[in-house]
Parts: sequence; C-alpha cells; structure tokens
Amino acid sequence: MFSIHRQDFGTDFTFGVATAAFQIEGGQRDGRGPSIWDSFSRTPGNVHNGDTGAEACNHYELWPQDLDLIRDGGFDAYRFSFAWPRLIPGGTGAVNQAGLDFYDRLIDGMLERGIKPYATLYHWDLPSPLQDKGGWMNRDIANWFADYAVLIAQKFGDRLEATATINEPWCVAFLSHFLGIHAPGYRDLRAAARAMHHVLFAHGTAIDALRANGAKNLGIVLNLEKSEPASDSEEDKQAANVGDAIFNRWYLGGVLKGEYPTELTGPLAAYLPDGYEEDMAVVSRPLDWLGINYYTRGLYKSAPDQPVFPIAQVKGDLEKTDIGWEIYPQGLTDLLVRVSRDYTKLPLYVTENGMAEVEGDSDPRRAKYYEDHLKAVLSAREQGADVRGYFAWSLLDNYEWAEGYNKRFGLVHVDYQTQQRTPKSSYRAFQGMLHNSR
Ligand code: FCB
Repeated sequence: MFSIHRQDFGTDFTFGVATAAFQIEGGQRDGRGPSIWDSFSRTPGNVHNGDTGAEACNHYELWPQDLDLIRDGGFDAYRFSFAWPRLIPGGTGAVNQAGLDFYDRLIDGMLERGIKPYATLYHWDLPSPLQDKGGWMNRDIANWFADYAVLIAQKFGDRLEATATINEPWCVAFLSHFLGIHAPGYRDLRAAARAMHHVLFAHGTAIDALRANGAKNLGIVLNLEKSEPASDSEEDKQAANVGDAIFNRWYLGGVLKGEYPTELTGPLAAYLPDGYEEDMAVVSRPLDWLGINYYTRGLYKSAPDQPVFPIAQVKGDLEKTDIGWEIYPQGLTDLLVRVSRDYTKLPLYVTENGMAEVEGDSDPRRAKYYEDHLKAVLSAREQGADVRGYFAWSLLDNYEWAEGYNKRFGLVHVDYQTQQRTPKSSYRAFQGMLHNSR
C-alpha cells in the first residue's frame, strides 16, 4: 500500500496508465503497413534476442481485458498511441478501414468503462514508405504528419480527452539518428540535426491541423532528464549544461519559446536545415498542456577529446532499476518546478514514470519507486508547479524497444507464451490508493 492518498492530489487530479501501440498491439495484419521498427527489429544485432513486435501483448485482440484492468485499478485515464501504419499503411494516401475500426472499438471501450482517452499520434512506429523518402530527415514529413493528424481529428477528435503530437522527440531525433540505438538506427550528425528540427516542425504543423479540425486539449510529450555534473569542477558543470541542452533545452526552448540553445545551434550550424529559424513560430505554436516523461538523471563529465559535443556520460552510484537507470525522485520534483518556473504556466502532466524490474508479480521495489515519485509530484505542486495528472509506465510488461521483452515495466505481468495477464503488487498498491478514495 502507498502511504499517500488520492485526496493529497486534490479532486481534479488525473491518474492514468500509459502504453504505446508498437509495444503492445501485435496484430500486424488486416491491412496494417510496415513500420521502421519491423525492419529494424528484424536486423540482427539491433534488439536483444532478436525480439520483434509481431505478437507483443496481442492487445489488438485482448484490448477488452486490458481496459478492464485499467478500470479495475481505479485509473481515470489511459494514455495510448495510434499506430500510423495501421491507419495509413503507406504513410500518406489510402486509409485502412480495419485500422479505423480497431481504434473506434478501443476508444468506445474506454468511454464505456469511464476511462478518459489520452492519445498520442506518434510513438515511434513510422510507416516504412516514409522512411524510404528520408523519414524525419525530410522536411516533407511536416506535411505527411499534418495529414495524418487531420485524419485523427476528424475520426476520433470528438471522443479524445487530450491529444499529444509526438512522444519524446529526443528519442525520435537523437537516440534514433545520432546514437543509432532506436529505429532507423542512424549514427550521423546531419541526419540527427535534421531530425531534431523536423520533429518539432512537424509537431507544430500537426498542432495547426488538429486545431483547424476541431481537436481539443493539445500537447506534446517531452522526455526530460535531470542533467547533473559528475563533479564540482567547472568543466563538468559545463558538460552537464551541454547535456541539458541536448536532452532538455532543445525541446523545451523550441516548443515553449521558439528558440534553440546556442550551445547546439553553434556546433550544428553546418548540419541544420537551411532557414530553420523561419520555422520557429510553427515549432512553438501555443499548446494546452505539456507532458513530461521522467525516469532518471544524466551525469556528465567533460571530455575535450570528443568531437562536436565535448562531453561523456558516467554511471552514477544511486540504486538502479533492472535497466540500469538510477532511481532519483528528487529529479522529478526539480524538473517540474524548473519547467513551471522557467518555461511555461501550462498545466503539466507526468505522462510516463516507472521502472524496469526483474520478472515476477511481487514487485515491492516498483511500488516504492511509484510512491516516492508520487511524493515528488506532491512536492513540486507545493512549490507551485501546476501538475494535473500522473501516468504510470506501463500498464503491461511489453516490448521495450532495443531491450525486447527482456525488460519489464508493467504494473501487470504478461506471460508471453500464454498472454496471461497477472496484476503485480504495484498494481494493487495503485488500486488501494485509487479505490479507497473514489
Ligand atoms: C520511454 C518510452 C516508452 C518506454 C519507456 C520505458 O522512453 O516513451 O515507450 O519504452 O521509456
């Protein structure tokens, strides 16, 4: 049981769980097109154990029981993502009726159960035909994405509680085009610089398209880390500042102020798209809310031998989760307070937070992680941050991208052989808190 109570968050606070289409749906049929994660995961060496999303949690068929779990847990809301390749298999052009039907059923299923739908348009499963044209490196993606956003607004907009354009643009751009860890697996500065700008430009064009087509309550979901120096030296502090620019300020500054940090526009000048400055009004279109995903901190030291960004990340000595990320609730408080002080007075939502833990349905460490991070949210609220909701990552154990099925983030255990769902003790802890107070 948590030692905190639902009432501590006030009466209007939203509690939810989050997932993403590629990580849970499976169901790669009925007209669904290929995505970059299909080919990336089938390329040897990219994903632990060669795991793919072909089956995942078979949420495509088992969604009614998954929605029952959300309702029975006492959650108010479900943050899910639409699979672009299921809706528009070629990325642009013809719409797949079976895809529309699936999300119709899913959204109506939420509403029937009293669960508020929080949708994300893009959680990383880019249709492959768009990657063939350069994907996020091609400026035209702003139009492709806006057209997809129009479809979502027209078909589903009236039933969605809130809509986010992009999940974690740092991952879409930097992790996937510079570090090469996620699809499409590039390790190229020019590719990264282009993706870093186009992902936010496309966010802006999608906001315009959603709004013009009547969708309400629009936002974006940024993953932020607490960037800290590995020592007190001036050099390491500067390194942390560059790390902060790469991870946090590019996206916060771009979306909320229409400006990118000079620590990056300098070194990236030769690689950024020509005339990107003229897009900044679109990049920073007004929003209705901001989503923040938080997992851990980043520790940086100076590394003058590194080209372009003279920094290196070091391992910290805090307790770590099963994926090796340090457990650092204070970082969540600090980030929420910082964003509301320095960037925006928009309502903030913690749209993801959670931990990987070894397999099993007894997960006291995870329950404690949640409790400590919920306390961190309360503390940020006391310091004036307008945090309106919290979504646990994740409802289910699922396909953890390059880690495959090896890392488990679920409140509910999934047996991938039988697709049996078993609530863990962390799920019961949420249930206790949420049901006692409804
Ligand atoms: C986030 C992703 C999410 C999940 C968690 C663990 O970066 O948005 O899909 O993989 O990390």
